Amino acid sequence: MLTVKNIHQYYGGSHILRDVSFEATLGKVTVLLGRNGVGKTTLLKSLMGLVPIKSGSIELEGKPIHKATPYDRARAGIGFVPQGREIFARLTVEENLRMGLAYKSGSTPIPSELFDLFPVLKQMINRRGGDLSGGQQQQLAIARALAPKPKLLILDEPTEGIQPSIIKDIGRVIRMLADRGDMAIVLCEQYYDFAQELADDYLVMERGEVIARGLGKDMEAQGVRQLVAI
Ligand SMILES: Nc1ncnc2c1ncn2[C@@H]1O[C@H](COP(=O)(O)OP(=O)(O)OP(=O)(O)O)[C@@H](O)[C@H]1O
Ligand SMILES: [Mg+2]
Repeated sequence: MLTVKNIHQYYGGSHILRDVSFEATLGKVTVLLGRNGVGKTTLLKSLMGLVPIKSGSIELEGKPIHKATPYDRARAGIGFVPQGREIFARLTVEENLRMGLAYKSGSTPIPSELFDLFPVLKQMINRRGGDLSGGQQQQLAIARALAPKPKLLILDEPTEGIQPSIIKDIGRVIRMLADRGDMAIVLCEQYYDFAQELADDYLVMERGEVIARGLGKDMEAQGVRQLVAI
């Protein structure tokens, strides 16, 4: 679904991403691990087109997208859940979900399935985003990204600052979405146990480089826990 080849990215003179290559496959969860500041968010933003890459290529279903705008990448089927959620605090839950459909035609309904995945959003449909708990906001951000039915879902640290019961719910939803087989999922995490439970494939980054990769089931044996321990 997604093929990233040899990408390099700079913020001014700082070389942040160094020759990063990986693939994300339909039906699988690809987990990107790494400590604070190694470039995880920068990598995910460059997939979405929110930061430009200097060289390398990004293909979605075999088509190059690295020159496309974020808007066009969303239209091409990428859903993005940013770090810190970035929901619209003054808009209602329903309005936030409609924002996820902004590039679809005006009559596209909010898929009812989103409320099966996250029943709390149905109860809160008329509440303002800013009145939700952190965990509920995270569920809203994921639902907003899912609303246009993406083929590739990108999540940036979805467990950050969220209570354990909601982390479990979010993990279940991510697994279920992958198991349906019609979506590729790329997830970056610092919470090792959550990452290990979900990973079909993993990558570990350090200072902008991929320093380890493999199958999720081998993470423990390959000592990934130690690589990302703080
Ligand atoms: N807009 C920016 N301008 C300049 N430097 C930046 C910018 N955003 C991030 N950086 C730097 O790029 C590096 C990678 O940051 P990035 O946010 O990608 O890391 P991260 O792995 O997502 O970290 P965290 O786990 O804390 O979210 C850091 O050294 C950071 O200071
Ligand atoms: Mg980050």
